[in-house]
Amino acid sequence: MSPMAAELLIRPARETDLATVAAIYSAGIAERIATFETSPRTASDLADWIGDGQPFLVAERGGQVVGWARAGDYSDRCVYSGVGEHAVYVDPQARSAGLGRQLLEALAAAAEEAGLYKLTSRVFTDNAASRAAHLAAGFTEVGVQRRHGRLEGEWKDCVLVERLLGPAAEAG
Ligand SMILES: CC(C)(COP(=O)(O)OP(=O)(O)OC[C@H]1O[C@@H](n2cnc3c(N)ncnc32)[C@H](O)[C@@H]1OP(=O)(O)O)[C@@H](O)C(=O)NCCC(=O)NCCS
Repeated sequence: MSPMAAELLIRPARETDLATVAAIYSAGIAERIATFETSPRTASDLADWIGDGQPFLVAERGGQVVGWARAGDYSDRCVYSGVGEHAVYVDPQARSAGLGRQLLEALAAAAEEAGLYKLTSRVFTDNAASRAAHLAAGFTEVGVQRRHGRLEGEWKDCVLVERLLGPAAEAG
């Protein structure tokens, strides 16, 4: 059976996943479409992500980790402790098969379970895949932050995306 035909499992990340998570992250960083970060990541760079109580999921197909999503702190101000700032990365070989959307949906469920009331992130306006995956997973685009940073000297505009969870989603 080909890896793409195998069943998809989305589960909490483990320490043994970190090398693959870092490789998938580094592939996205190298594409210069996902983040202002430009340095590749190693497993040890991400060690703090395990066991910190924040939602951190991997997608596994045929025993191989093919994507990940994580929510970290949005702010160090305690009034925003219910807001998570998230990221989602899928192996370039595994894209456009619904994994990004499914990881975001699973992350929203895990974040809600962890007591968060919102997930939010910034997406480069020209990252069509991420914008589409977020919209498909129930996120809304709040607005554009112009010239929010420079990537290799070029100004980038960012779309702020968010999804309300739990009591915030129910408040109407
Ligand atoms: C963004 C990313 C996670 C999306 O993952 P994915 O598995 O390819 O996305 P999905 O297959 O779940 O696609 C979800 C939707 O986006 C659409 N889509 C996927 N790739 C697209 C593209 N390049 N352009 C336009 N739409 C696209 C799909 O058609 C699908 O829409 P639908 O549900 O209406 O059919 C993936 O492209 C990636 O890892 N990119 C590099 C890292 C990155 O940019 N991360 C996000 C940082 S904000």
